[in-house]
Amino acid sequence: MIARLAIIGVGLIGGSLARALRAGGAVGEVVGCGRSAANLERAVELGVIDRFSQDPAQSVQGADMVFIAVPLGAMRDTFSAIKDHLSGNSVVTDGGSAKGSVVADAEAAFGRVPACLVPGHPIAGTERSGVEASFAELYRNRRIILTPLPETAPDALDRVTRMWQTCGAQVTNMDVAHHDEILAATSHLPHMLAFGLVDALARMRENDEIFRYAAGGFRDFTRIASSNPVMWRDICIANREALGEMLSKFSDEMADFADTIRRGDGDHLLDIFQRAKLARDRYVDGIGAENRTDLE
Ligand SMILES: NC(=O)c1ccc[n+]([C@@H]2O[C@H](COP(=O)([O-])OP(=O)(O)OC[C@H]3O[C@@H](n4cnc5c(N)ncnc54)[C@H](OP(=O)(O)O)[C@@H]3O)[C@@H](O)[C@H]2O)c1
Repeated sequence: MIARLAIIGVGLIGGSLARALRAGGAVGEVVGCGRSAANLERAVELGVIDRFSQDPAQSVQGADMVFIAVPLGAMRDTFSAIKDHLSGNSVVTDGGSAKGSVVADAEAAFGRVPACLVPGHPIAGTERSGVEASFAELYRNRRIILTPLPETAPDALDRVTRMWQTCGAQVTNMDVAHHDEILAATSHLPHMLAFGLVDALARMRENDEIFRYAAGGFRDFTRIASSNPVMWRDICIANREALGEMLSKFSDEMADFADTIRRGDGDHLLDIFQRAKLARDRYVDGIGAENRTDLE
């Protein structure tokens, strides 16, 4: 049971955690924090938080669990703002989509990685943002990746693990660099493809006509291009090394693909499509789906 939970960034990810813990009867009081009073007032109206402060330092006072769910570019300032105001029994965790940058931000703000910090990433989300988009079931049967460090206190890791399990999630521990490489491939690259495709088409002269005739496949593939631009700018910058590497490899693959098409090499095309179909049917929709990592 968490007596007082402070959520810094009461949007989709932070709001959904508060809702899930409330639904599970696993939290006493929830204190929200953010920049906009209107969003926080709405969060109180919706029953997601009990009260709020726009000052991160005030919001963490007396909290035994602190969850930071702001865009990655705001992590360092948030750590700096709270570092002298945490209670002795506080555990701090986050939901940022890249982990190397969060650890570097914590080191910069605290001087070293504090034992109470458990970096984390819920592999769950939607293309919508803000507290209105949050819902209690977001984490049910989803994976949460925690990237504890040698400095992390075992008790802190245990408390964060139990918090996510209460939300119905499956918790996996992973090394920080490994997390960033895997997520560059499974989440960050697909988002780049969706943003890149929609932007390129939108800039073409005939874009009205292109979008008018866009069919279901286009809609499915590009849904994630409606995600929060600020959040994705920050993810790209935070994970630029792994994502840059992945984009280069993928560009080479696409150049080969284009050559195959120009040559009219039907056998090679069939090989590619059959391999891709087999892999997707097996790992995303069929056997192995229980181990899947969803795009967000
Ligand atoms: N969306 C996803 O699918 C997803 C999935 C996994 C992880 N994540 C990660 O979760 C985190 C939050 O994402 P989200 O989807 O919940 O975003 P969101 O719905 O936009 O919520 C972000 C919250 O942070 C606050 N915020 C924004 N900038 C801030 C700043 N500079 N200082 C303090 N607070 C700030 C916003 O409120 P104010 O504007 O009022 O400050 C808002 O309530 C990000 O780090 C993201 O990488 C997202």
